[in-house]
Amino acid sequence: PSLTPFVDPLPIPATIDASSGRQITIGAYKITQVLHRDLPATTLYAYGTSEATATYPGPTLVAKRNIPSCVRFENHIYDSETFLVTDKTLPWANPANGGVPIVPHLHGAEVESASDGHPDAWFTASGEQGPKFVTQNYNYPNSQPSTLLWYHDHTVGITRNNVLAGLTGLYFIRSIDDDPAYLRRWTNEIPLVIQDKRFWANGSISFPDVGVSPHIHPYWCQGYSGDVVLVNGKIWPYLAVHPEKYRFRILNAANARFFTLTLSDADLKWIQIGTDGGFLPSPIYLSELTLAPANRADVIIDFSNLTVGSIVYMNNSAPIPFPVGDPRFSPPLVAGSVMAFKIVSRSRGSSRSRKDFEQWRDETMAQNSNIPTNLTEVPKATYDLATDVYRSFVFNEEFDSAGNRIKSLINSVGYSDPLTETPKLGTVEIWDLINLTPDAHPIHIHLISFLVVHQQALDQAAYTANQCSLEVEFSQPSSCFTEAPQEGNATQVGWKDTVIAYPSVVLRLWIRWTPRDGGSFPFDATSGPGYVWHCHVLEHEDNEMMRPLVVGS
Ligand code: C2O
Ligand code: CU
Repeated sequence: PSLTPFVDPLPIPATIDASSGRQITIGAYKITQVLHRDLPATTLYAYGTSEATATYPGPTLVAKRNIPSCVRFENHIYDSETFLVTDKTLPWANPANGGVPIVPHLHGAEVESASDGHPDAWFTASGEQGPKFVTQNYNYPNSQPSTLLWYHDHTVGITRNNVLAGLTGLYFIRSIDDDPAYLRRWTNEIPLVIQDKRFWANGSISFPDVGVSPHIHPYWCQGYSGDVVLVNGKIWPYLAVHPEKYRFRILNAANARFFTLTLSDADLKWIQIGTDGGFLPSPIYLSELTLAPANRADVIIDFSNLTVGSIVYMNNSAPIPFPVGDPRFSPPLVAGSVMAFKIVSRSRGSSRSRKDFEQWRDETMAQNSNIPTNLTEVPKATYDLATDVYRSFVFNEEFDSAGNRIKSLINSVGYSDPLTETPKLGTVEIWDLINLTPDAHPIHIHLISFLVVHQQALDQAAYTANQCSLEVEFSQPSSCFTEAPQEGNATQVGWKDTVIAYPSVVLRLWIRWTPRDGGSFPFDATSGPGYVWHCHVLEHEDNEMMRPLVVGS
């Protein structure tokens, strides 16, 4: 369908206070929702406190640091199977009694594994439970510093279906103590959940009905991509903004698409103040903001020099697959438009009371003062291979003997292969991610946040021929590398839970198996069904680019 951009106002998902101490119930429902003025309503799966209030994206849960939240998740989807067709050749939940299995994961949370949404802890509307199911009542301690997390479905083999169908929502951990004083009177804060989709003219989601090799993977493709971009559940929306500074909390919730976001006014910058795990040490001024699937960015845009009536467009320049696109398509396939900002004046109603006026003045002052250069302390990642545990992981694309069953694997093993990652609580590990595939992979590790030590471009032929020992050679001249180690780029600065591993690069991570601030977790991370780590391109995750992770004491 051809749809006019920038005709629908940006919706803001409803918020739910998750700090009251009372249990919140969130159900997954089948709903219809209008995603564009000119598109018939779309069938979706969506989270909500009831069928009537379920929306895509789901309600935003707002927790307070160190105040635990308890969320009961329910499955009210009564379809006999998901309406986005299930590829049953992948390892998948496969409930004996049918239905649509779901399991919610709070992405980026420090949480006990029973409440982590293990891919095998799924449950259906009829009460069938996956082999690692423990409970539908999830405990979130909210013990980590303030940031934006998100909850989404994580069911083995059909995460890509369920997330694309709409099972996604935001989750804030707020803490005044973590915020730089500068932000404390801030009011212009807007969440942006960005996702791409493709539609049929009748409004339904277009999802692949032909796989890579139809007889082996009838419906699996290597990365779902849409031709339209939705923000907060509307296709190409617009937001009316005043000529002031705005803080945007952005999530890339796409299955596979990376976004490199640009602004049509060359004088405007993305002023990035935070990333997945919270504030950056200092703001970064960017013309391009790259977000892999699952990445979040906390950014300020200063519209104050713009004239009322002008429009700023947010565009995307990242090809799919990232970073170089598919050689079959030139120019590369890009979903170029995202949303628009229309600059409007702030009307000062004549009936404004003195109190309102003072509040308005204070907020405006806060939003017009200068952004501080120091936001928080983030340690510098260092390592000592004499004491730290060293692991290395090679990402490869592998084919079956017929040459057509392509999948990206980690060390040539998949989700169900024997457990190898068994870190001990309190220890530090160094992980080298060695990407020998042509694509970037956003790698997500559950339970902890980590830091990038550095990355280094690899000579793949030399690496494959010499089997260089990266553990030893990483920091010294070596035939395996084409350059000296580089500091991580802007996407890799600060505390991360999902990081881009670029092709032909070795990415070295510093991982400490403790809460973000050190010490010990306020729960037993060693019991329960365990965790996972995986590529967050959901098609890769569903086709075995995922590994179990069990923490020991
Ligand atoms: Cu956002 Cu393991 O997932
Ligand atoms: Cu991947």
